[in-house]
Amino acid sequence: MLLITDRLDESRELARRLGVWGPCRVVPLERDGDETGTPSAIIVSDVDLAHRGTVEAMRTVLARHRHKETPFLCLLRDMTARSTIQAQAIGASEILPTNTATSVLVKTIDQLLREGTEPVRGTAAFTRAHLATAAVSLADMLESASAGKPIALSAVEASVEAIDQAAGASDIGDWLQVVWSYDDLTYQHCMLVAGLAASFAHQLGFSSEDRRLVTRAAVLHDIGKSRIPLEILHKPGALDEAEQAVVRTHPAIGHAMLLAQGGFSPEVLAAVRSHHEYLDGSGYPDGLGDGQIPDLVRMITICDIYAALIERRSYKPPMMPEQAYDILVLMGTKLDSALVRVFEQVVQKTVQAA
Ligand SMILES: [Fe+2]
Ligand SMILES: [Fe+2]
Repeated sequence: MLLITDRLDESRELARRLGVWGPCRVVPLERDGDETGTPSAIIVSDVDLAHRGTVEAMRTVLARHRHKETPFLCLLRDMTARSTIQAQAIGASEILPTNTATSVLVKTIDQLLREGTEPVRGTAAFTRAHLATAAVSLADMLESASAGKPIALSAVEASVEAIDQAAGASDIGDWLQVVWSYDDLTYQHCMLVAGLAASFAHQLGFSSEDRRLVTRAAVLHDIGKSRIPLEILHKPGALDEAEQAVVRTHPAIGHAMLLAQGGFSPEVLAAVRSHHEYLDGSGYPDGLGDGQIPDLVRMITICDIYAALIERRSYKPPMMPEQAYDILVLMGTKLDSALVRVFEQVVQKTVQAA
């Protein structure tokens, strides 16, 4: 095994942990000589990919040491969308946080070697790989949306496919663990709602077409937030009245964005506009009542509220799943009680992860 690092001192501990799998040769990123040495079965990197220069240096080192089929496990100190995208761009077979437990690292390395670069369905590595794909696509979407450009439908579909696969194949607990390691709140929230919605649709026994519709609506539900100033969106603590009013414009903004672009189904448009509506008419932006809110929207609303409650923020500890579920129940006639009951099964799957 070859470990490429840009922090030789701290990587010693990592090399020691990787040594559980087998012999590990450490190569410093900046002082990599020209010699190619014996080919390694697998390449692992512990490099900060947030800087362009480092990414370029990584490309050079990989070109020298990586053969076509050699799996490449990219370890990241921060699982931000930017770093994840860079890792994908330099051809990572698998991406994990650097502080991943040794047992998981070793298991992942074994899998990569056994299966080539395809992670095994139903494993945490499979979930992580799909989540990375979804994150990259979501980054595309949010970036174009905030720049006022059309959202690439191919990016939407890539993330829907990845999330549906992961939610169907593995425990939602794995999903949550990975989602929580992302530090961008908008990604974290969209991924969480989408994972929960996909799992909810599986729980309800939906056809694959309907599952995708639900997941697509969940991925896009807060797309309007891409136009809300970050200082409001990411403000630690409570928002004042004026700020709240700004945030509350996101459903209508998102709806207008998708409508102007065209190509989105009525169900998706309804979810984007109406996911903050309540059955008793007390929601926004239109104050819709029971008969005016489609089932799919009701599902997204439940996932959205639950996700917000269990989300991890720097300034507040996450709420426990059971406690968050109790809040859904206490919301009574605002939510669809039959759906809330089914959702309990999804919640059960998140209990272990908390
Ligand atoms: Fe929202
Ligand atoms: Fe939301």
